[in-house]
Amino acid sequence: MIRTIAIVNQKGGVGKTTTAANLAAGLSQLGKKVLTIDIDAQANLSAHLGFSADENGETKTMYDVLRYGADINEVVVQVEDGLALAPASLLLSAADLELGGVIGRELLLKKALAPVLENYDYTIIDCPPSLGLLSLNGLVAATRVIVPVQSEFLALHGVRQLLDTIDQVRAAYNPALRIGGVLLCLHDSRRRLSKSVADTVREYFGQLVFETVIRTNVALAEAPAKGCSIFRYDARSTGADDYRKLAQEVVGNDS
Ligand SMILES: Nc1ncnc2c1ncn2[C@@H]1O[C@H](COP(=O)(O)OP(=O)(O)OP(=O)(O)O)[C@@H](O)[C@H]1O
Ligand SMILES: [Mg+2]
Repeated sequence: MIRTIAIVNQKGGVGKTTTAANLAAGLSQLGKKVLTIDIDAQANLSAHLGFSADENGETKTMYDVLRYGADINEVVVQVEDGLALAPASLLLSAADLELGGVIGRELLLKKALAPVLENYDYTIIDCPPSLGLLSLNGLVAATRVIVPVQSEFLALHGVRQLLDTIDQVRAAYNPALRIGGVLLCLHDSRRRLSKSVADTVREYFGQLVFETVIRTNVALAEAPAKGCSIFRYDARSTGADDYRKLAQEVVGNDS
């Protein structure tokens, strides 16, 4: 079974990239072959997984794939055991403008991925904090959306708009698209606010919310600087526990 999961929330800093990197690594720990795709110009996922572009800018990235139709095989790099990455570039920041006039611009990622999907059990797409063309490409290419929400005031801010966008993408391009789950991130069980946000999110989304909650854990914030997943950085941290559990829940939901 092949699954393509887009990690989407137009709100910034909610845990999308942390989830993309560590869910992917968690799945690979379960013996799955996983491809991660970075389509955010910030290239945080690429850095998190240890990728650095060469200085003369000759490394091809998702920018070359989306803008110039480069073969995705030319950009994929192996980053950890069972874990591959198609990296992003800062150049993607102009993609909305540059691709705006291209016919079929919403389908570019889906088409680019088609030849490689069957090489992987899961493909995980880290989207930027906007509902622009890149996130749209992520949603069109995916079969599942995971929506990380931060356990903070305004957690559900913008969620209505996100759900509308998902409905529109499903209707216009991608009838197979489903919400794979809403994930509570940056959760601090000692704070009453976290608990009350979690209750509100569960009331709003019901069964769609993952049982697994990602707690705030300093190791999760430190791992990106070391260019590796939480499992390599500190496999015994609560962050590793939480993403291990999430990976099991994701696989369980598929079977
Ligand atoms: N559970 C966690 N515990 C501690 N720190 C975390 C946790 N999750 C994320 N962070 C940190 O919070 C910050 C934002 O997380 P992240 O980059 O994953 O969010 P994002 O939604 O991808 O942001 P953006 O919208 O900018 O792409 C990062 O510095 C990250 O290391
Ligand atoms: Mg991010």
